[in-house]
Amino acid sequence: MGEQEEKEKLHAFHRDLCIGFVGSLRSLSLYPPEHPETRKKLQDFFRKIDEHLSYRSSLAMLFVDGEVVVENTRLPELSSSLGKFLQRLEQVHLQRLVFQKGVLFEEFVQFLQILLPLLKNPAGAELVLAEAKERLPHILVSSVQLDAVSQVSYEDFSGALQEVRQSLLSLSGQMKELFSGVVGTLPVTKVALARQIAETIHKMVMAEELPIKVLIYRRNPDPDPYQHAIHVSAVSMALAQRLKVHRPVLDELCFGALLHDIGLFVSPPIAASASGAITLDEKKKRWEHPIRGAEILLSTRGIPDLAPLIAYEHHFHYDGGGYPEQKQRRQLNFASLIVSITNTYDDLRRNRPERAALPLTDALNWMDARQGKEFHPLLLKQFRAMVKAQALEKNKSA
Ligand SMILES: [Fe+2]
Ligand SMILES: [Fe+2]
Repeated sequence: MGEQEEKEKLHAFHRDLCIGFVGSLRSLSLYPPEHPETRKKLQDFFRKIDEHLSYRSSLAMLFVDGEVVVENTRLPELSSSLGKFLQRLEQVHLQRLVFQKGVLFEEFVQFLQILLPLLKNPAGAELVLAEAKERLPHILVSSVQLDAVSQVSYEDFSGALQEVRQSLLSLSGQMKELFSGVVGTLPVTKVALARQIAETIHKMVMAEELPIKVLIYRRNPDPDPYQHAIHVSAVSMALAQRLKVHRPVLDELCFGALLHDIGLFVSPPIAASASGAITLDEKKKRWEHPIRGAEILLSTRGIPDLAPLIAYEHHFHYDGGGYPEQKQRRQLNFASLIVSITNTYDDLRRNRPERAALPLTDALNWMDARQGKEFHPLLLKQFRAMVKAQALEKNKSA
């Protein structure tokens, strides 16, 4: 299938998803969920979500200023046909709807049943949706204001931000390919792919095509590990650039940060247990991933020296704590100290099996409380300064 044809197919799939959403709600407003017609509508729509979630960790729908965006696809053709419906969504402050992997049909129907009366009478809708959160663990509903400091504008979603999201999506696909079937030494083709991705990230950060504000302020809570690797690489590079690190080291850092968690992908992969809880065995594997990662990178040809070091050291703390276990406190590499900060920040901002993503301010406060212990105090200060500079930039352009 040609690229254009594939794009069109995806566009149609995303459009059908949105129409399915509206159709399900309409049907549910006429008949109870057990009615054969409603049941069919709901099941058809749910099957589409399920299909999407079989290869992605979440499905995001945005309804902003009369525009519909499903995943990264803008659907301007729906603006007029769904005009009234979009207005109602706006009244209940539902601008962002995310279905996460693991969502069950029953949870989905329950969500629609909660939403439906609110669309008719939006009074107190925000409170009702907030209270329903516990009952809907795989469905996230919010306005697009992700943090108090980062009101996202319509332009963000319709223009530049969409392009950035597209680029991230494409890089994330390449990362998935890179991390799949890692057994021991990486083949030449994977090393070349890693170099290519690191170079793209490097260029994009330099050209400000991958604005740090998207990665820091507007970090979405998607737990996707491929996106995480890209974020850690890009933000590490931006921080190092701020610290005037020279070019050859920057390149190595960008590459090493991209592969910092490669030890998590050694076959058989570490997967969360069916219940979502972390088992002891999974914990042990997690603790060992820095060692596994360093082993892979040390045994692979053409890997810069910093990469295995970063993989091995990124969970060590500045004060000697952290993991894997060490008998003697080691002098941590500068690059590892940077990745320790960027990795923790990005981890705090994404949903994890053990906790939900933290808002920006909470994540920064959490890290502040550990400065000089987990994190190098001066590097953390620089990281904070970089975040602050982005805030000023944002306010200037707002
Ligand atoms: Fe890690
Ligand atoms: Fe990580």
